[in-house]
Amino acid sequence: MGKLWGGRFEGKNEAWIDAFGASIAFDQKLAKQDIQGSLAHVQMLAKTGILTGEEATQISDGLRAVQQKLLDGKLTFTIENEDIHLNIEKYLHEEIGPVAGKLHTGRSRNDQVATDMHLYLKEIVGEVIEKIQLLREVLVNKAEENIETIMPGYTHLQHAQPISFAHHMMAYYGMLSRDQERFSESIKRIDISPLGSAALAGTTFPIDREYAAELLGFSAIYENSLDGVSDRDFILEFLSNSSILIMHLSRFCEEIILWCSHEFQFVELTDTFSTGSSIMPQKKNPDMAELIRGKSGRVFGNLFALLTVLKGLPLAYNKDLQEDKEGMFDTAETILTSLDIMAGMVETMSLNKEIMEQSTEKDFSNATELADYLASKGMPFRQAHEVVGKLVLDCTKKGIYLQDVPLEEYQAITPLIQADIYHTLASKTAIERRHSAGGTGFDQVRSAIEKGKKELGK
Ligand code: ARG
Repeated sequence: MGKLWGGRFEGKNEAWIDAFGASIAFDQKLAKQDIQGSLAHVQMLAKTGILTGEEATQISDGLRAVQQKLLDGKLTFTIENEDIHLNIEKYLHEEIGPVAGKLHTGRSRNDQVATDMHLYLKEIVGEVIEKIQLLREVLVNKAEENIETIMPGYTHLQHAQPISFAHHMMAYYGMLSRDQERFSESIKRIDISPLGSAALAGTTFPIDREYAAELLGFSAIYENSLDGVSDRDFILEFLSNSSILIMHLSRFCEEIILWCSHEFQFVELTDTFSTGSSIMPQKKNPDMAELIRGKSGRVFGNLFALLTVLKGLPLAYNKDLQEDKEGMFDTAETILTSLDIMAGMVETMSLNKEIMEQSTEKDFSNATELADYLASKGMPFRQAHEVVGKLVLDCTKKGIYLQDVPLEEYQAITPLIQADIYHTLASKTAIERRHSAGGTGFDQVRSAIEKGKKELGK
């Protein structure tokens, strides 16, 4: 048999040109959805009387036979059959003969492919949501184990103020909660059926689009057939949500990579999530974290590639739209595995609590405490800032820290400073006293963790 659309053609095909136009190398990932879509379509054709019950049964049985072969790994796809839709239809012809040709009544590959992708993404987004939720659980657990683990909080990558490690984990929890919400909210725009838009203009056959949509589990149908076959916003949204997600993972990985360095030594990854060097025997590299950081590049790239494909496209279907798939598949695989790796890596990483805490004791991250102390005793905050700034400068010249300054020296600067200053300057006190909502105070962190657990149904 020649090409399924071969009637109008008399020139012969060139294999290398066919290969350029074919999408089967990648869209075979949609085989399951393609058969699912066809089964719904044929059932609708029977219900509306467009096909006889007998024809529809023959076609459905044939499709199920093809489906079984697919599950058994017995289908091989060919470039001559261009894409997944034509490959499956060819197999259907092999199963049931010419009646197979009735399946495509009132349908086009344009609404067919769009339907396949809506089905595919709906499933993937469900998986993504589950995996984000698992990672959020890991974060909450890590936080709960480390409420009183003290670390330096940074701005400009300089020690700023001491914080609870749990607070740091819960910051990522917040980002991932928003990511999960974004994916969840996107479902209502994926959950729409383009099937029955046909090539672009609808069809003269008395089809029932709502019925087919219902069979496929879609909540709505596209209200405009041109939009139905041309819309790829739902994919863009997936690529965009994925980009934001992996940007968060990448920031987190960057921190883990820093924390693993000899300079920080805050955390250690398990051997499973590390790799060695072929030349330097001592190396234990955080490759997995680096790879997630690196893979953010391709995820952003896939978003930009599709935006660029779409920006100048006239309505309705254009073959350019075939370029929507590889990036979508690649992003789906990338974020699903990155989420798995991230969860395992964070769950198993161990903390050097002493090093973390000590590094807040040999620094000036308590300078704000001193300034706040003076301000709370009536000195205007700006003046307190100036006084402490001068003192820090003086200390750096002497090679000491604020907690090393003798009380007499403090009192010579201002009698407002009393012996309780040393307690105030301790990192633990600095954290403990931060009761403001959403701050790093242990009480605040505790209630953030409780809230998180509730959200996760724990
Ligand atoms: N393989 C095509 C794609 O992925 C299917 C739709 C083809 N439609 C057409 N009119 N050539 O976009």
